[in-house]
Amino acid sequence: MPSRHSEISEILVDITVAAVTEEKTFELRPAQLEEPRADEVLVRLVSVGICATDLHFSTFLPTNAVLGHEGAGVVEQVGAGVTDLKPGDPVALAFTSCGVCKQCRTASPSYCAQFDALNFAGARADGSSAVSIDGRPVYAHFLGQSTFATHAIANVRSVIKLPDTADLRSAGPFGCGFMTGAGTIVNILKPGPESAVAVFGAGAVGLASVMAAAASGASTVVAVDVSPARLQTASEVGATHVLDSREGDVVERIRAIVPDGLDGSVDTTGRADVVKDAVAALHTRGTAAVVGVGPSENVEVEWRTLLNGRTVTGVISGSAVPQVLVPQLLAWQAAGRFPVEKLMAHYEFADINEAAAATKRGDVVKAVLTF
Ligand SMILES: NC(=O)c1ccc[n+]([C@@H]2O[C@H](COP(=O)([O-])OP(=O)(O)OC[C@H]3O[C@@H](n4cnc5c(N)ncnc54)[C@H](O)[C@@H]3O)[C@@H](O)[C@H]2O)c1
Ligand SMILES: [Zn+2]
Ligand SMILES: [Zn+2]
Repeated sequence: MPSRHSEISEILVDITVAAVTEEKTFELRPAQLEEPRADEVLVRLVSVGICATDLHFSTFLPTNAVLGHEGAGVVEQVGAGVTDLKPGDPVALAFTSCGVCKQCRTASPSYCAQFDALNFAGARADGSSAVSIDGRPVYAHFLGQSTFATHAIANVRSVIKLPDTADLRSAGPFGCGFMTGAGTIVNILKPGPESAVAVFGAGAVGLASVMAAAASGASTVVAVDVSPARLQTASEVGATHVLDSREGDVVERIRAIVPDGLDGSVDTTGRADVVKDAVAALHTRGTAAVVGVGPSENVEVEWRTLLNGRTVTGVISGSAVPQVLVPQLLAWQAAGRFPVEKLMAHYEFADINEAAAATKRGDVVKAVLTF
């Protein structure tokens, strides 16, 4: 248990965080965490995955910001209003949401009207931060958690209670990357037998899409990437075909496999040229799911291509209700149908910069820090 400072008015917990530095790397620093409010829990982290989104935000957030949004650990303390969680519960954490807007009330919390304010503003809804460094509140509550830290405060809407059998050293990435990739398949594209799906970008998100498409029974699962190693992994986890997009026209090569075109495609590259291919390779009623976040501002899609009944849709966090989808994915994993353990490389928390560099180089698909 972390030490308590009950003599000061706001009761604080001593923790260690990986704070963003001037150089846009991470530095382990002592920090203080508030005790959980009525609708929050205090979680001791066992592991946290590194997602491309953490690295993207680290390039422009202020010094001392605390990122991390694929945490898994054990509940240490619950707020006065928390009824369905207790100390000792194994949990994974996901994004947070308001719970009362129309999207939240219709089981679409990843499209919450307050999504950006609650997940990216660096603070709770009232502007406060549970994390302080050198006595000053810092940017935290990132995607409902800020789990590049030994402990985190999370609103109950972020918390996914896990089965006692869950491996907390590898459960964290289910709360973002794996849920995003798999949710895009099971909630949006919904392939079945005889479906043909292509996944552009075979990183953590894309490979989770590949696995979920195969587990859903899609008969054709094409993985597209520019990395032979990632394509090799894709074929080991369920892709029926792999294409290196540097080796020729991708749309033509997909149509050589599926002459009528795809039922669904997923873009995880965030590149406008790739999204264009993901749409052009569809059949007339197919759906392209845009998931990747990249440098492109605009995507150009030929007007007639859309007119013929195709759908292009953006997808946040796999359109998932995390508390529903994550246990399902863990059950798939336990049955050998969602072998995400093949994607993970574990690092000590102190080696976060090494893990981030390996992620940026593409040497590891999913780096996971352990505490
Ligand atoms: N929408 C959401 O809710 C959500 C959630 C999590 C992550 N993301 C975003 O999803 C994206 C993927 O995340 P990730 O962790 O899998 O990242 P990643 O970097 O591991 O995967 C991207 C893959 O795309 C490949 N790629 C690059 N250029 C390509 C090209 N021209 N053609 C084909 N493949 C190409 C890369 O080699 C890499 O394997 C990121 O942009 C991330 O920010 C979005
Ligand atoms: Zn993420
Ligand atoms: Zn909401």
